[in-house]
Amino acid sequence: MTPLPLGSKIGILGDGQLGRMLSQAASRLGFKVVVYGPDAESPAASVSAVSKVARYTDEAALDRFAAASDVITFEFENVPVSSLEYLVSKGAKVAPNARALGITQDRVLEKTFARSVGISTVDFYEVNTLDDLEKAIAINGVPALLKTRREGYDGKGQVWIRHADEVRAAFESLNGAKAILEAKADFLREVSVIAARGFNGEVRTYPVGENHHVKGILSTTLAPATISETLKKRAEDIARKVLEGLDYVGVLGVELFVLDGDELVLNEIAPRVHNTGHWTQDGCLCDQFEQHIRAVAGWPLGDTTARFQVEMTNLLGPDILAWETLSQEPNSRLYVYGKDDPREGRKMGHINRLKRAV
Ligand SMILES: Nc1ncnc2c1ncn2[C@@H]1O[C@H](COP(=O)(O)OP(=O)(O)O)[C@@H](O)[C@H]1O
Ligand SMILES: [Mg+2]
Repeated sequence: MTPLPLGSKIGILGDGQLGRMLSQAASRLGFKVVVYGPDAESPAASVSAVSKVARYTDEAALDRFAAASDVITFEFENVPVSSLEYLVSKGAKVAPNARALGITQDRVLEKTFARSVGISTVDFYEVNTLDDLEKAIAINGVPALLKTRREGYDGKGQVWIRHADEVRAAFESLNGAKAILEAKADFLREVSVIAARGFNGEVRTYPVGENHHVKGILSTTLAPATISETLKKRAEDIARKVLEGLDYVGVLGVELFVLDGDELVLNEIAPRVHNTGHWTQDGCLCDQFEQHIRAVAGWPLGDTTARFQVEMTNLLGPDILAWETLSQEPNSRLYVYGKDDPREGRKMGHINRLKRAV
């Protein structure tokens, strides 16, 4: 693909904080951004040249969006695959592709794909009925983690089964949603790798970050993490297999569990810029947002070398109320997403604290 010229229009499906930061990166490179999402006052719409307020399935609105954009991407993994396919059928250029989105939206398809390209996952079982779940527990044993196949985030839609007598209640808590039962990963640490692939197949990988979750929500990422060369190579190899196997164009995040012996197991793939990649805004010269825009615009990919080790901390709910103190911290940078209601657990912003030069 020839690089999109300066001033071209980039369409973004999804209007949250990831769209906001993608939009800001795109405008810095001279692009105009058209944001498409359900909310007029959204974090992304408020910083973008144009915003289209519509449901993701509104074909007339999608037609106008396609006509207004030179390339279309997304920041939200629950955009319907049919909407991407519709945009493509109308002649829009869309990246990442619809197949990659479809696979990564569904935990069973995602793990099946990972195994098909030689990446380890925990043992897993497809669960549609109570009978499926009872059989899976009989094979796997407890503890095991029951998750909805689709639309889970920040630990939502997940329930641990620790005793056989909890099976029925766990199944009923899903309210009929299709599910996956996962074996418990006995991980030592959780890490992630953010990587990008261009239209020409070039791959670039950021240094691995180590992540800490509190109550199922990401709390901090420290990157580059202190890891062995073996682990680094394994993480890069996994990212490359995922990108190539999905014929992916853009940035994605791969969440990994580190087991004893530097074994890596894939947890999930996010087909978009990722919360554990926010550290790159201050750790690298080309952050994950600019990188994604470069990739989908057919520009050369940017430098992924870390200049600083950074600790990124999410500001959840009322944490953001401390903005005045946070904004005075030396060697740190505050990011605010422009959301009104700081309700418990909601991602309101983050702070990147520089630890040391790398
Ligand atoms: N199979 C598993 N074994 C042990 N811990 C798990 C497993 N799956 C998920 N977790 C824990 O729950 C967190 C959230 O699960 P994840 O599948 O990443 O869902 P989400 O989409 O909510 O991020 C993970 O980061 C990890 O700490
Ligand atoms: Mg996760």
